[in-house]
Amino acid sequence: MIRSKTRNYLVAMLGFSLFALLLLTHFLEFPLLTTAGIPEPGANGIASATSGREEAFTDVVAAFRKWDKKVGCERFREKYRRWTPNASVLQEAEGSGCRGMELSHVSVLIKGWTWIPDNLDRLYSCRCGLSCLWTKSAVLADKPDALLFENATPPSKRKKGDPLRVYMDLEASRKHSGFEDIFIGYHAKDDVQTTYAGALFHNNRNYHVSPSKKNDALIYWSSSRCLPRRDQLAKSFLSLVPHHSFGKCLNNVGGLNMALTFYPECSATGGAAEDPHWYDHLHCAMSHYKFVLAIENTAVDSYVTEKLFYALDAGSVPIYFGAPNVADFVPPNSIVDGSKFSSMKELAAHVKSLAVDPVAYAEYHAWRRCGVLGNYGRVRAASLDTLPCRLCEAISSKGGKLAGNR
Ligand SMILES: *[C@@H]1O[C@H](CO)[C@@H](O)[C@H](O)[C@H]1NC(C)=O
Repeated sequence: MIRSKTRNYLVAMLGFSLFALLLLTHFLEFPLLTTAGIPEPGANGIASATSGREEAFTDVVAAFRKWDKKVGCERFREKYRRWTPNASVLQEAEGSGCRGMELSHVSVLIKGWTWIPDNLDRLYSCRCGLSCLWTKSAVLADKPDALLFENATPPSKRKKGDPLRVYMDLEASRKHSGFEDIFIGYHAKDDVQTTYAGALFHNNRNYHVSPSKKNDALIYWSSSRCLPRRDQLAKSFLSLVPHHSFGKCLNNVGGLNMALTFYPECSATGGAAEDPHWYDHLHCAMSHYKFVLAIENTAVDSYVTEKLFYALDAGSVPIYFGAPNVADFVPPNSIVDGSKFSSMKELAAHVKSLAVDPVAYAEYHAWRRCGVLGNYGRVRAASLDTLPCRLCEAISSKGGKLAGNR
């Protein structure tokens, strides 16, 4: 009786000591997530918590393993459990149910010169039993329900029975033509929203992702439209951090098209390598860098372009200057939002400290490894990839050609 009591006591003591030890190591071993509340992206003091032990690293998967040991998905998920991005920056890809859909088939004819790639052309099977023919061919859609214009102006007049006029402008200014029945833009308030998080522009490119990241140059940048504001911003930041600039603007790698010289494994897949474009190996080249600098040409709400999504796809961490509400479009702790820092010096110090801290750096990749996405899944669901069905559904809801005029 007594002996078993003593044993119970010993077991309890042992359990308690183990518990205390665990608690202690918890605090010693998990410095990253001890800050209360949800930090600003990119300014969460992660690096300062790592006891100044610098560790240059190149193996990104090894960095992930270290993060798994020190932090782990469970704690990451818990930290962002109550983090709720603004849901209204996105239209519901699922629409508002099937009520109000008046047609069972819709055909859309794309008119004039457009950025919309040819490989979007096909017959789609959409929600609510709707079929949707999307084509640039006036042979395949000789009696279209709608005409889509991007760089051309729609007809100024339309009578009942004529195709609906759809106008698309994905630029920051969201300029309407004045004659359209349906407007497509990147903003949730447009008739049909289309985000830049699509994949179809990128077919036939090289998608190799490098397992190792460079230490001599930390940032990838490539810009070929040298806008003064963007160049100035890039220069003031890049001058503080070792980087490679591949494009026309502030090029520092000895000329254009150097990516394939640096990274031969990035040459285009499929077919002969006749005249590769810089964007054919963009993804692969980016993947060699810990960071990719992405600067929008205009910083307005919800204008988040492919520059950012491409860097995320390539397994890099975007350093972003653009939409003030970008956090509503990306997974938590997936980007460094440059505008959240009080100076370029402070931003550069943060970036450099992450580059020598495998655990803090790996945390910027935790979202994809732990499945913590914020709005990101919906952002991808509302991209150009799914535009045909979503537009056909909108056309159907209006009644197609039988719709009256506004
Ligand atoms: C959420 O996004 C919508 C659409 O962009 C915007 O009108 C609204 O002001 C945002 N709400 C907050 C709290 O930021």
